[in-house]
Amino acid sequence: MTNSLVYLKTFGCQMNEHDSERIMGILSELGYTTTEHPENADLALLNTCSIREKADQKAYSDLGRMEKLKKKNPSLIIGVAGCMAKQEGSRIFHRSPGVDLIFNSKNIWRLPLLLEAVQKRKQKIAALEDTPYLRPYPSQRQGKIKAWVSIMEGCDKSCTYCVVPYTRGREISRPIQEIVTEIDGLSRSGFKEITLLGQNVNSYGKSENSQGDFPDLLKALNNIEGIERIRFITSHPWDLSDKLIHAIATLTKICEHLHLPLQSGSNSILQRMQRAYTYSEYFKKITKLREAIPNISLTTDIIVGFPGEKENDFQETLNGLREIQFDGVFCFTYSHRPNTPALNFSEQIPNEIKKQRLQDVLNLQREITEKGHQRFVGQTHEVLVEGPSKLNLDRLSGRTRTNKVINFKGDRSLSGRLVKVKITNVKSYSFDGELCDKI
Ligand code: 5AD
Ligand code: SF4
Repeated sequence: MTNSLVYLKTFGCQMNEHDSERIMGILSELGYTTTEHPENADLALLNTCSIREKADQKAYSDLGRMEKLKKKNPSLIIGVAGCMAKQEGSRIFHRSPGVDLIFNSKNIWRLPLLLEAVQKRKQKIAALEDTPYLRPYPSQRQGKIKAWVSIMEGCDKSCTYCVVPYTRGREISRPIQEIVTEIDGLSRSGFKEITLLGQNVNSYGKSENSQGDFPDLLKALNNIEGIERIRFITSHPWDLSDKLIHAIATLTKICEHLHLPLQSGSNSILQRMQRAYTYSEYFKKITKLREAIPNISLTTDIIVGFPGEKENDFQETLNGLREIQFDGVFCFTYSHRPNTPALNFSEQIPNEIKKQRLQDVLNLQREITEKGHQRFVGQTHEVLVEGPSKLNLDRLSGRTRTNKVINFKGDRSLSGRLVKVKITNVKSYSFDGELCDKI
């Protein structure tokens, strides 16, 4: 056991945030505690993202800062974890010679041995194999009310723009029983809400030992006493089955919110992206979802400026957004990524056009979201209280089942409880409300 300090910075998605909780789970067993100040650290770890070029650039500039600290403190170990570690591989050692260790998400479990090798043998180590190994991790979770739980690793889809199948490797699912045991433990520790994590949760259960598909898993989790809410990300439209829609509609703890990336409204672009659905197939699924779960909130991801996206393709995306009326859209300009098929596609789109299209999507969606959110005013919603609001400590903050943030007056002792709140006002990113009474 050491008594050492680790500075851990996380980039990217919720899977990465949760991977950092696992990294801390393992490091705390080795005697590490966290520090916010890298200048005090014995180990500096960046858990990186590689989804777009900007994410890589941010990590490299942080590595530069860590290398400066290493000049003052030569025993500082610098590690790079996550998707950029896999993408860049040993190029990282050349660009940032102060780095000692690089490993991707599939090698987190090897951390104790990797650190020992770096410390004892003073070797630089890259652990980037697609190790087909799953076991419960000792996670050190950030909150006490909401927890992330990984149900699968990797991705077997082949979207032509995406690094994830390369960085996170082959898809593998954890057995239902093991997930139930983990969440049962979380319930005993007082957690109320679980978000199930996977690159494509809808295809859960294809591994030999997983004991069922995604709706079967949801059914098993719905029975765990003490857990009030279950969410999941991310879903691929292709695998969104009628059985899953039925499960969301009938299982009481599954929240009425679905993030379902559309990416484009144009069939020819969807085909070039290898998304395996047409716009009208996607629209049919949305219609079924809304019929089965009338108050469901839907959000999506859009990429603009994918190679070959003509003005009429882009207009089809805008038309799709007008037709579907999502509650929220995350829109990105297409970014060239190494190790993806689209890297070599012809007809790359100039930057100015990509930026203009991004702006057009954001402007349109702002109007749609504002209009859509008006429907909530006057409604009373079940809210899970997360604690004092960040901007105003006299108020409480929580989320509806539809994943909307609500701020309202109330006593701090309500943290972690379900309450009823009447929505009185819409703001850009949240709602104001009034506490009705406890449920
Ligand atoms: N360029 C831009 N956006 C991307 N995404 C994934 N890969 C890229 C890329 N190369 C977006 C997709 C995905 C979200 C997580 O990030 O919309 O759903
Ligand atoms: Fe998450 Fe994708 Fe970024 Fe990896 S590349 S951290 S999977 S968003």
